[in-house]
Amino acid sequence: MSEKHPQQLETALVHAGRSKRYTQGSVNSVIQRASSLVFDTVEAKKHATRNRAKGELFYGRRGTLTHFSLQDAMCELEGGAGCALFPCGAAAVANSILAFVEQGDHILVTNTAYEPTQDFCSKILAKMGITTGWFDPLIGADIAALVQPNTRVVFLESPGSITMEVHDVPAIVAAVRSVAPDAIIMMDNTWAAGVLFKALEFGIDISIQAATKYLIGHSDGMIGTAVSNARCWDQLRENAYLMGQMVDADTAYMTSRGLRTLSVRLRQHHESSLRIAGWLAKHPQVERVNHPALPGSKGHAFWQRDFTGSSGLFSFVLKKRLNDAELAAYLDNFSLFSMAYSWGGFESLILPNQPEQLAAIRPQGEVDFSGTLIRLHVGLENVDDLIADLAAGFERIA
Ligand SMILES: Cc1ncc(COP(=O)(O)O)c(C=O)c1O
Repeated sequence: MSEKHPQQLETALVHAGRSKRYTQGSVNSVIQRASSLVFDTVEAKKHATRNRAKGELFYGRRGTLTHFSLQDAMCELEGGAGCALFPCGAAAVANSILAFVEQGDHILVTNTAYEPTQDFCSKILAKMGITTGWFDPLIGADIAALVQPNTRVVFLESPGSITMEVHDVPAIVAAVRSVAPDAIIMMDNTWAAGVLFKALEFGIDISIQAATKYLIGHSDGMIGTAVSNARCWDQLRENAYLMGQMVDADTAYMTSRGLRTLSVRLRQHHESSLRIAGWLAKHPQVERVNHPALPGSKGHAFWQRDFTGSSGLFSFVLKKRLNDAELAAYLDNFSLFSMAYSWGGFESLILPNQPEQLAAIRPQGEVDFSGTLIRLHVGLENVDDLIADLAAGFERIA
């Protein structure tokens, strides 16, 4: 493409990463499956070696044209200097943190982080002599008081896993930078699909996604992405490379393909999930609804200020705690909501959490409700059909 005008998100999602080098005359990028990449001459081998981290074909683990296309697209969409690819979101989280810590370091992590992220810190990092401090997702500028001289990484996730609290990112970033300018601030930005919250524009160093969710978008592949600013890119890239982190070309291709419909899907997830959230908020069996775009949800004002939209994942709390029989009657009989982990696909999903289960994954935090929490992923079905399915569920536990 010649000189570009600033593009709206919808346009950028359709065109990002589709240069001729990657599409070779077709609409989509080629799928280049390779371990070995052949050099025609000694000079070509030297050139590839010198430029192996700069988009030259070198060896499969450094990426092929299919990977480069996705990486370019992600950098354009999230405003990064580079994008590392991983076999899943959990690998993206673990390896992004690992790239910046060493024995004796301390990191700060939100206590509403995705459970395996917490476990990585308390089980793997702890073995390496790296300690983790936990903070409340609504801590804002008070995070400065938790920063220690050896704090190397501050890890955010917004909205919080399951309970959906939205951070005041500008306040957290400013406070951390004022006491620890060298600390690396990273964020699990999966809920916003990396595009509804422009993490790097808010001063985050690395925006991580389980691209398994909205980018793939069809619940049929696993991949992680970490888009980095210039100051962290070399270190992140080389550490990921040495840890053997890469994804296969077919999955990279599917991720690029998912980007093309992402804005349309997100718009529908936003509209349908908000409509259902509003309906639930008025339901007599519901205590509260945790949806970032719904007034009253924790951190809603920050969502309104900082995000450009919502995706389809949120939760609500029932007035009563369901016993095992009630849980089974409720969850075994939905016709449209399937019970499954993960989210971000075209289909609607439902999962329960009892308050004590949540309390167990809120280090140094508390759970301020006693009813059963239900997490929904609102998919692309007709929203009236989904509401009818949910209404029938409430009748089963009335
Ligand atoms: C917020 C969040 N981050 C990371 C992950 C991990 O992604 P993956 O399952 O691709 O490893 C998940 C998975 O559910 C998630 O919900």
